[in-house]
Amino acid sequence: MGSYGARGEVPPGRGSPGRPAQARFGAVTDVFETSGVMKSYGRAFVVGPIDFSVPPGTTTALIGPSGAGKSTLLRMLNGLIWPDSGTVRFRGRPLAAGELQEIRRQIGYVVQGGALFPHLNVRDNVSLVARWLQWHPTKIAARIEELAAIARLPRDALRRLPRQLSGGQAQRVSLMRALMLDPDVLLLDEPLGALDPMTRFDLQEDLRDAFARLKKTVVMVTHDLAEAAFLAAQAVLLRDGRIAQQAPVEELARAPADEFVARFVRAHRRSP
Ligand SMILES: Nc1ncnc2c1ncn2[C@@H]1O[C@H](COP(=O)(O)OP(=O)(O)OP(=O)(O)O)[C@@H](O)[C@H]1O
Ligand SMILES: [Mg+2]
Repeated sequence: MGSYGARGEVPPGRGSPGRPAQARFGAVTDVFETSGVMKSYGRAFVVGPIDFSVPPGTTTALIGPSGAGKSTLLRMLNGLIWPDSGTVRFRGRPLAAGELQEIRRQIGYVVQGGALFPHLNVRDNVSLVARWLQWHPTKIAARIEELAAIARLPRDALRRLPRQLSGGQAQRVSLMRALMLDPDVLLLDEPLGALDPMTRFDLQEDLRDAFARLKKTVVMVTHDLAEAAFLAAQAVLLRDGRIAQQAPVEELARAPADEFVARFVRAHRRSP
């Protein structure tokens, strides 16, 4: 495989983490499973039909051109967008409107672009739900310290409002907010997009270690193929709302399903 974007060459032995052995035998329920999901806005067809599944403890990367439907598909997984037809299952059960609040508490979500509350400082943005759940203030403070270290956020930034942060810092706060309740499942919409290459490199390493160690199930949107290869066991490449190819990133490069996939991979030009 070539070398792409900020991540650069994937050195031997640092490829995608494999599927956990237990998932190979089909004994474990997939965390997400979509069957025939479709979504249109008015007459504009946006997504579907899409069938895919996410086994527990794995990371899946959603990739594809702008407007391909990545965010729409991601938001259907936690019920923020409801499909016109088809079913989304979470841990084997179809999403039900009455259970969404409880389900979303189990799923950390980083919105594309961050979407922090502008009138709350970093500490309050990150701890909003924990406070609502009446966590003890000491526990909240300790967790925020822990997350600031993980996200490499300077401690003096904790008191600031979102408009007083750089774009990359705001993005790291969104990540902290998604991780606050320590959910088993994470949906991340371009969580590292606004970061400089060095911070991004370090965070990719930290996240990959944390996901593997804590057996998180992750679906993340990224525009960076090398990031997808580094973090995810499988990539789902979308084109015009449909899956063009679902495979490990290395396989997209080695055995592209069609000319579109080959062009998509070629477009991630090798850096000097
Ligand atoms: N609420 C909406 N009303 C009408 N069209 C919408 C709406 N939300 C999304 N779309 C359209 O659906 C398509 C898919 O959007 P989506 O946000 O899923 O793309 P994406 O793959 O995440 O793109 P990007 O990489 O730019 O974030 C786009 O053409 C978009 O304009
Ligand atoms: Mg998007």
